[in-house]
Amino acid sequence: MTDKQLAEAAVAAREKAYAPYSRFKVGAALLGVDGLVYTGVNIENAAYTPTSCAERTAFCKAVSEGARGFAAIAVAGWRDGQPGFAYPCGVCRQVMMEFCEPGAFKIIVTDGNEMQSSLLKDILPHGFGPEDLD
Ligand code: THU
Repeated sequence: MTDKQLAEAAVAAREKAYAPYSRFKVGAALLGVDGLVYTGVNIENAAYTPTSCAERTAFCKAVSEGARGFAAIAVAGWRDGQPGFAYPCGVCRQVMMEFCEPGAFKIIVTDGNEMQSSLLKDILPHGFGPEDLD
């Protein structure tokens, strides 16, 4: 699974986003160390607060299926007709911190054309994680 293939999976997943309020549709594709890909979309709610980001939807699906180790996530988020690069929100970065190695886990964002790549440690410096509770 290449970065480009993972980004394409995120773009395809984005079509299933449920975002009637913001119209900001997001798709994510999470790659497990087992090679399996778990997709997710943002799922909005009329009460707003219960909204789930695409990244967390993907993590919930993966973890509830028994997956634990992850290599990378691709994210594709924009309003239709206004493509751009959407980086994971702070809450999603913290969820990544729970299950991913900060120095190895890759975050790929795509606008459907180009890709930008970062490590979790770079977008969440000094992150608090499970090892802090050892
Ligand atoms: N959103 C995501 O799904 N992932 C992010 O990383 C940023 C924000 C969603 C939440 C909401 O449905 C919409 O984008 C606008 O904030």
